[in-house]
Order: sequence, then C-alpha cells, then structure tokens
Amino acid sequence: MVREVMDLLEPQAHKRYLDGTLGGGGHAEQILTLSSPDGLVLGLDWDEEAIAATRERLKRFEDRTIIRQANFTEAKEILKEIGWHKVDGILLDLGLSSHHLDSRERGFSFQWNSRLDMRMDRRQSVDANQVVNTYPVSELERILRDYGEEPRARRIALAIDSARRKKTIETTAELADLVARVGGRRGRIHPATKTFQALRIAVNRELDHLAGFLEDAHELLLSKGRMVVISFHSLEDRLVKKAFRKWSQSCICPPRTMFCRCGWSAKARLLTSRPVLPSLGETQINSRARSAKLRAAERL
Ligand SMILES: C[S@@+](CC[C@H](N)C(=O)[O-])C[C@H]1O[C@@H](n2cnc3c(N)ncnc32)[C@H](O)[C@@H]1O
Repeated sequence: MVREVMDLLEPQAHKRYLDGTLGGGGHAEQILTLSSPDGLVLGLDWDEEAIAATRERLKRFEDRTIIRQANFTEAKEILKEIGWHKVDGILLDLGLSSHHLDSRERGFSFQWNSRLDMRMDRRQSVDANQVVNTYPVSELERILRDYGEEPRARRIALAIDSARRKKTIETTAELADLVARVGGRRGRIHPATKTFQALRIAVNRELDHLAGFLEDAHELLLSKGRMVVISFHSLEDRLVKKAFRKWSQSCICPPRTMFCRCGWSAKARLLTSRPVLPSLGETQINSRARSAKLRAAERL
C-alpha cells in the first residue's frame, strides 16, 4: 500500500520521519525520495537481517537516514538520544516481512521444515519451541483462539499436549503434521495456517508492543504530524482504531458522566474514518495484502 501510505503521510523536504517497521525498506525509500533533498528518516526494526539488508538498499540515502536495530516501543528514547524528540510523520507497517516468510531457517512457515523458532528479534529468549512445549494447555488454547481465530483451538491444544508428553515438538513439519491430523472442516488454506499465525503473534508479543506504543505515540508527533498504521489482524486493527479514536476525542469520561473530570483534550484528528483497504490490483499481486487495513491520524 505504498501509494496510499504516501498520500496520507505526504513526505516533504526539511521534515523528519520515523519508520518503526523498516523491514525491506520499500516505504522508507519512497519517503526519502519524496522528501528530497533533505528529508530525514529514522528507521527501526528489531530484526538484524532486515537492518543489514536495508542499510545496503538505502545506501544512496546514507546521509539522510539513521537506522537502528530496535523495537518501535523504544522510539521515544531513541528520538531523544538523536536529538529529534518529535517527528513530522510515523509509519508502522506491522507483522512479518516477505523476507521472514521466504526464510527457510526461521520457522515462520511450514513450507520448509526448520526448527520451531518464529522470533523476529533473535535477541529475545522465548521462541515457538518454548511456547509449544511448555505453555499450559489453557494458554495454548487461548493463543490459538484469540490470535489465530482457530475454531479447533481446544482440540489442537490437546493434541499438542499429548504429542509433547511423548517427545518434544522440535520442527515446523512436526507441528504442521500434528495440526493437520486434528479433524475439522477443510478450507482453502492449509490446516496449520492459523496455528502458525497465532504462535508467531504470541512469540513476538506483537499486540503488547503495539498497544504500548499507541499509548502515547501522539506525543512523538509535531503539530500537523501524521501517523499511518497498516495492520494485518483484526485485533491489531481494533487497537489502532481505539487509540486513534481516543486521541481524537475531547473528553474520555465514562458515558453518562454529568460533568467532565478527565482533563483530556483532543490530541489528533482522524484522517481515515474507515480503514483504507488495498486495491484489487495489489491483492492480486500480493496475496498477503488481502487482510491489510490502513488507518491514519494527524496531530493537532
Ligand atoms: C511488513 S514488514 C515492513 C515492510 C516495510 N514497510 C517495507 O516497505 O519493506 C514488518 C517489519 O516490522 C518489523 N517489526 C514488527 N514488529 C516490530 C517491533 N515491535 N519493533 C520493531 N520492528 C518490528 C518486522 O521485523 C518486519 O521487518
């Protein structure tokens, strides 16, 4: 959704931008091009492979980029450290990059047999192996139901438990086979797709990080600064919608309160009353884009 992001972010010369999910650098490259000759980009990604590849890709913009391996929840401290404090635009393009999906060793896909890993930030200790082999059945069921919207959540959690009592589940193929053997209605997608998505969200604590960042991300924006978020999961989109709505309200007292006591004032205005969806053309080229939803807000 590069065009949609640029239409809303409106990159301009002399301005500063934070790309909190640098990934392959496609959006950052476009921001740098449109903000020529002196627009600046701080690019963060917690994946060292993404950082290394994108540093190379953005080499010609070297004097206008600062790239760090970091969680976007650390943005406030990093902005302070580099002396920017606030920016004119923030982009979050959440979830996995195509690099993750295509990687044969990182365990994000059951297309290739590899160790159960799924960590986007390999500095963290919890990986998919630990979640699958040590989490209680009730927690596995919750993860599969909430993050994967998996109707067979309970049965899959029980099947995992029964298998791991005999032997540790080590690989993506072992897990995918085990999930496929749990009966249920066959759909268009592979029977393990939802399980893999749910585990990835849990391993990387994706919703916690997003919720934490959204809490006060408006404070990182200069007046008229814009924030654009692309999400790929209904729970992510709900967090963004709720945060942007709160930012745009002039009072957040509980309903039916007679006199306002919250002291809150509107921080931003919504630029998208409904989420922007990818064009038909984009979903035909990139099937992953099908579930994308984009929302944007502007700091007052
Ligand atoms: C969909 S890709 C971004 C693609 C990018 N916009 C581009 O044009 O190539 C998402 C990226 O965000 C990173 N990511 C996800 N959550 C993150 C977080 N909490 N902190 C830092 N990076 C994160 C992932 O490692 C991945 O590289």
